[in-house]
Amino acid sequence: MESTQNLTPSFPTTYDIEQAVLERYQAGAKVSQPSLCCAVEYDEKYLEILPKEIIEKDYGCGDPTRYVNSGEIVLDLGSGTGKNCYIIAQKVGEKGQVIGVDFNDEMLKLARRYQSEIGAKIGYYNTRFVKGKIQDLSLDLEQVQNWLEKNPINSIEQFSQFEQECDRLRQQTPLIRDNTIDVVISNCVLNLVRPQDKEQLFDELYRVLKPGGRVVISDIVCDQDPTPKIMNDPELWSGCIAGAFGEDNFLKMFENAGFYGIEILQREERPWQVIDGIEFRSLTVRAYKSLKKTCSKDQHFIIYKGPWKQVQDDQGQIFYRGEKIAVSQQTYQMLTQSDSPYQPAIIAVSSSSEVQPIQSKTSCC
Ligand SMILES: C[S@@+](CC[C@H](N)C(=O)[O-])C[C@H]1O[C@@H](n2cnc3c(N)ncnc32)[C@H](O)[C@@H]1O
Repeated sequence: MESTQNLTPSFPTTYDIEQAVLERYQAGAKVSQPSLCCAVEYDEKYLEILPKEIIEKDYGCGDPTRYVNSGEIVLDLGSGTGKNCYIIAQKVGEKGQVIGVDFNDEMLKLARRYQSEIGAKIGYYNTRFVKGKIQDLSLDLEQVQNWLEKNPINSIEQFSQFEQECDRLRQQTPLIRDNTIDVVISNCVLNLVRPQDKEQLFDELYRVLKPGGRVVISDIVCDQDPTPKIMNDPELWSGCIAGAFGEDNFLKMFENAGFYGIEILQREERPWQVIDGIEFRSLTVRAYKSLKKTCSKDQHFIIYKGPWKQVQDDQGQIFYRGEKIAVSQQTYQMLTQSDSPYQPAIIAVSSSSEVQPIQSKTSCC
């Protein structure tokens, strides 16, 4: 990875960001908050079985549910009322699974209230909701809560025991295990995470995905850095404004965490809000986790079709239009498999051809 620059502005804030977010969405679970809503068009056919309350308490800003397929295991970060989870439950079907994560008891209660009713309507029960922070997906906050009830903290020694217990839980009973998820989605939540935790958040997305898995994230981005005045307003933080990502930095955060095939799927032309001349809008991005490195003695070749004269992948490999090139098995798979974002631009060439190949610098053998 080339660039590891700090991509999230870190103004010291005069308030507790997490507390402000928690309180705002605890209230949002009880009473609908129109100021938190961005108009989102979901596929109507998946809304038919959802209770009115879930349809109305929608705090998303895009529709990542469109990019999920049958049979997949999906993790929804900041699942709120469960609207995205229940749409995906229908899309992934009986063989798929959906896990919603939220750190807010009121939202979890609301989402869980409809679990059996919706399961009965669709004919299977493939959805569950768990309590955790999306920047620390190994720590099961329900288990932490149980431990704290039995072990209140009143001294540094007890605080150290608490930290030790959290480490034990992360290792022995992780909330979300490494390499277990096909698709991580999130709808308008990543911006709410504290600036100092954002890098760890992207590392967590990468950790939990299976090799070759993908993220589809809808979030709020801005065309200039939010001013200190905006950053220091707790209402604007919990309102998905102050923590918005710089538009170009958002893609770099995925790149720095090791993702490839990073692509903007949807960019709202009209800003959701303009504050102090800064435009805040919704963006939906997809990115892939690398496949496992595999080695084989077989030679693999590809040709980049164009239309650009040359393109470069996230490993720095340049592909020249029309040129046959030998690539590693891992790169071959990454470029040619049917769900690859590169596949429409690539011709897979049979290895029996006699043309002398140019050796790829990413060949692993
Ligand atoms: C803007 S709402 C989006 C809810 C849902 N994705 C939707 O589309 O309606 C943000 C949700 O993320 C949760 N949340 C915010 N920060 C979180 C964090 N660090 N860890 C876990 N959940 C978080 C909030 O409790 C809230 O339910």
